[in-house]
Amino acid sequence: MPGIVIVGVQWGDEGKGKATDLLGDRIDWVVKFNGGNNAGHTVVIGDEKYALHLLPSGILSPGVTPVIGNGVVVDLGVLFYELDHLIERGVDVSRLRVSGNAHVIPEYNRALDQVTERFLGKRRIGTTGRGIGPTYADKMTRVGIRIQDLFDERILRQKIEGALVQKNELLVKMYNRRAFTVDEIAENLLSYADRLRPMVGDTALELHRALEAGENVVFEAGQATMLDIDHGTYPYVTSSSATAGGVATGSGVSVRHIDRLIGIQKAYITRVGSGPFPTELFDADGEKLRERGGEFGTTTGRPRRTGWFDSVIARYASRVNGLTDYVMTKLDVLSTFETIPVCVAYEIDGERVDEMPMSQSDFHHATPIYEHFPGWQDDISGIRDFSELPANAQTYVREIEALSGTRISAIGTGPARDHIIELHDLLGAN
Ligand code: GDP
Ligand code: IMO
Ligand code: MG
Repeated sequence: MPGIVIVGVQWGDEGKGKATDLLGDRIDWVVKFNGGNNAGHTVVIGDEKYALHLLPSGILSPGVTPVIGNGVVVDLGVLFYELDHLIERGVDVSRLRVSGNAHVIPEYNRALDQVTERFLGKRRIGTTGRGIGPTYADKMTRVGIRIQDLFDERILRQKIEGALVQKNELLVKMYNRRAFTVDEIAENLLSYADRLRPMVGDTALELHRALEAGENVVFEAGQATMLDIDHGTYPYVTSSSATAGGVATGSGVSVRHIDRLIGIQKAYITRVGSGPFPTELFDADGEKLRERGGEFGTTTGRPRRTGWFDSVIARYASRVNGLTDYVMTKLDVLSTFETIPVCVAYEIDGERVDEMPMSQSDFHHATPIYEHFPGWQDDISGIRDFSELPANAQTYVREIEALSGTRISAIGTGPARDHIIELHDLLGAN
């Protein structure tokens, strides 16, 4: 049952791409099961740096079969743009499989995403503007367009026509934008059909067979637990299931096949876009984290909001995802801080709260209760052995492990592939 899940446990950008890459040549399949090109994964291999948005980062490992599962929303222009770039750089992408049930992001949904954000003003979500929300909304209201529709032009045109009845009303009458024609949308989507066709199949069946045959399948989440449509900080979330629960619905693989659940956490926290963030920093420390950590969005280039590690979130993520392991990334970024505060609980209306509050209003005005740990001055970049870390860095990791409720199996000490301390084998027996 070697189904391995990789999920972000904060607000994204924890280093999921690097964690998938770490499993590298030991995996046979890598599956993206949620989200779309709102994700941004940076993977550094030797002198080469890759930025992936739609494709799972495991595509960079030779011999791996990458899969875009049914739970993904696909911008076809971006798909082929990324594939062509990887081909140019010598990456073999020939094995890519795409679910016929995945939905496509038509141009009108990109337009709607951007225009609704503008109209929301200060209540905006701060989306990536890629059409993610409107496309998942169409899926739920059953006016979405699926990959398989591209192979039946008559059906495709009917579906576009049906969707445009509503979309054009909104765009023209509410938002004063231009209407889209059935022809332009259909022509754009059909222009990809021939190239797409050989990649498309019943990926749920293919993955089932691989798992039954004992192959290693990694399910790589986009986004993160706190951005999950159900379990995140709604409405300041993305529109898909980014927690481990999304694996089964987003790939068609049974929960029975999931063996290992690896949460990726940064040694501190960042967030892009709007929404509550109890440990957020607005001072020189926050700026220092942003600078040292290179915290600028891979997708939109926006500066990421930064804050101290929050163990309430870590415990919540351990529970909601049923984590077996944590990978802690970016410990090297914390070097040179005098002391490092860690949020151990919240204070809400004068009461100490140890668990994630049920109410968003409570979460909005939760004040962190900090424990302060002594920092370390030495540069720890690239260290590969836990015992070589300064004593204070070792303590920091061990304390966070105790507070988070799941063992830490690997620690990132730099962006490169081998900047990692491995404490437990992520693919071995639990
Ligand atoms: P993802 O969306 O979760 O895949 O993460 P991103 O790629 O958006 O952001 C993580 C960033 O941190 C990338 O630029 C990585 O190259 C970098 N990174 C990952 N692990 C480490 C680490 O341990 N140390 C440092 N300094 N950078 C890291
Ligand atoms: P990775 O996979 C960080 C955020 C957006 C916005 C909210 C909704 O790189 O961790 P959307 O466009 O999805 O409707 O935007 O979610 N968001 C991310 N933040 N990392 C991501 O992906 C994100 N994907 C979406 O900033 O607040
Ligand atoms: Mg990212």
